[in-house]
Amino acid sequence: ELGLATLAQARGIVFGTTLTRGQVEESGEMRRIAAADAAMIVPGLELKWAGHRPSPEGFDFQDADFMLRFAEERGQAVRGHALVWHEALPPWFARAPRDAAGMRALLERHIRTVAGRYAGRMQSWDVVNEPVEPWDRRADGLRDTPFLRALGPGYIDLAFHLAREADPAARLVLNEYGLELATPEQEARRVAVLALLRGMVRRGVPVQALGIQAHLGAAARGFEPSVLRDFIRAVAGLGLEVYVTELDVTDRGLPPDVAARDAAVARSYRAFLDAALAEPALRLVTLWGISDRYTWMNDSRFARREDGLPVRAHPYDDSFGRKPAWYAIAEAF
Ligand code: XIL
Repeated sequence: ELGLATLAQARGIVFGTTLTRGQVEESGEMRRIAAADAAMIVPGLELKWAGHRPSPEGFDFQDADFMLRFAEERGQAVRGHALVWHEALPPWFARAPRDAAGMRALLERHIRTVAGRYAGRMQSWDVVNEPVEPWDRRADGLRDTPFLRALGPGYIDLAFHLAREADPAARLVLNEYGLELATPEQEARRVAVLALLRGMVRRGVPVQALGIQAHLGAAARGFEPSVLRDFIRAVAGLGLEVYVTELDVTDRGLPPDVAARDAAVARSYRAFLDAALAEPALRLVTLWGISDRYTWMNDSRFARREDGLPVRAHPYDDSFGRKPAWYAIAEAF
């Protein structure tokens, strides 16, 4: 039977999943399904600041190197996630300089060192993750982060220019969540993301793709295929590619019955992928988890179930059996 990446490839889509060193070392089953289904690996923790900057002076690339070697030995491509993000920062970041010159030096050193180290080996980099937050009530819709406070909105352009200098080959991606539903909240986020991207393209900033995280909810209302497709087309109209970077579907809000949850989760994968894949700008799909055994969602107050049952969000269950979600993704391709 063909794996998901092979099916995706037949449609011209690169397919993969996030994975961590801990999972690889702990579970032969994870190694097996990652090899069977993924043509691309996204290190889940190892390329975040908290994953390789134990001190302001020091970098520790052991875990990130491990993940790149793991993928490359299997002929899998790698995406880097993420050069700039307001989360997963190490504890020392709270005491780092907040003045413009100090923050600029910190970002320069970070991006030059990290993107430079892996130059030529990354298919793409999430250069800035989650830069938009309409509820922070700025006119430009940008998220109020330490980077923005120190450097102003220009920190985003700066990060992309630094990434391009350090790695001339990687596709450079702006990655964002909450873009797929036809709700007023998500419409506001789409508007802000489009305005940001339009400005970047106009200024000649080297951005090549928008990453749509796509953390979906099987009980969430407001998915309208035409809204997602129109948005993807608008991004494509700026000359950019579109990636689905962190696809998963929480079953939060659904009653406990397992068969019904699995069916609803599978339907959500299918409906989302059918809409996204109909747009030629869509080039890549990576999951944010492939087995329920290793899911970030039980630790997220937005994604975990309120009844305390573990989520069934991914294509394989917690003993690595294929669920309806696996078949839904296969059929979508
Ligand atoms: C998650 C990881 O999977 C967890 O292990 C970690 O504890 C928190 O972060 N959006 C992102 C990802 O861009 O980096 C997040 O990953 C999930 C939400």
